Amino acid sequence: MQEIQIERTKNPKQKPTDQSKLGFGKIFTDHMYIMPYNKEQGWHDPKIVPYQPITLEPSAMVFHYGQEMFEGLKAYKAADGRVLLFRPDKNIARANRSNDRLCIPEIPEDDFLNALKTLVSVDKDWIPTQPGTSLYIRPFVIATDPFLGVRPSDTYLFIIILSPSGAYYESGLDPVKIWIEDDYVRAVRGGIGEAKTGGNYVASLAAQMKAHDEGYSQVLWLDGVERKYIEEVGAMNIFFKINGKVVTPKLNGSILPGVTRASCIDLCKHWGMEVEERRISVDELVEAARTGALEECWGSGTAAVISPVGTLRYENEVMEIGGGGIGPVSQKLYDTVTGIQTGKVNDEFGWTVEVQ
Ligand code: COI
Repeated sequence: MQEIQIERTKNPKQKPTDQSKLGFGKIFTDHMYIMPYNKEQGWHDPKIVPYQPITLEPSAMVFHYGQEMFEGLKAYKAADGRVLLFRPDKNIARANRSNDRLCIPEIPEDDFLNALKTLVSVDKDWIPTQPGTSLYIRPFVIATDPFLGVRPSDTYLFIIILSPSGAYYESGLDPVKIWIEDDYVRAVRGGIGEAKTGGNYVASLAAQMKAHDEGYSQVLWLDGVERKYIEEVGAMNIFFKINGKVVTPKLNGSILPGVTRASCIDLCKHWGMEVEERRISVDELVEAARTGALEECWGSGTAAVISPVGTLRYENEVMEIGGGGIGPVSQKLYDTVTGIQTGKVNDEFGWTVEVQ
């Protein structure tokens, strides 16, 4: 494992005083991690430095062909003062799967984990403690070759920044309204849908604006081939409770394999619930909503945690779920996931990793 050189800031920033006004991803801490890659040295010379702008050539490949990978995870401060990361091994493994798909060199897992732990430790006084808040961690890699031909870059930067954040949705735990998109698609099988990369998110913007104009906060995507099967929401995976069973789309190559998704499945099974990972057609969903079989719907994601869905709209069909309130499974998942993350609930699965 490589040693990280640490340069601490001489001008610490003012920390936010009102944690209820943090919002998501708007404020950044005093430090960042940065590690360059080139063909001769591989990943080398990791540093933690004061948070600052980076300088790139206008010709840097990331600006032109979008060769970049990003991740999202969170750090929490437990009541006893311990600093906890939630399943960082899963994010690291997914980052390297994304890297493989995007022709970015893999980052050694021990260097990645050491980077997360060391940076969070340096800026641990920035971790907010009010319920619903956390320190959001954004690792990312960008292609930096100054070159306009289309090929994988030979040089990269791996950077990690930290943002004390509150709820992803302004509505917090209040149920969100979701628009099921039948025109635009996000990803196709064989494409980059299961990689965590900016291209998947820019592909979602036009539909998201359309949904916003109609009063909906997010888009639920259908598959890109038949436009019939449920895939995921832009910033989260999706779950339904239909006739007492928990149902979520099966990972098929165009759906992001979410860490919170995996945790929801593990928890529901642990509680003795039947969980099905399978194809769900939008027609099945509409039918389940019409007959009352659709009992609950929620999204899961690192940023969104567990986000109850109160309304789904598909074409002219508006489906109100659970009377617009938070369903019991969504609430139990939210309480358990955030409880484990913040050290309030016993971590019987060994999901948390302590930062010294
Ligand atoms: C996350 O949940 O961490 C994500 O990366 C979603 C992001 C688009 C906010």
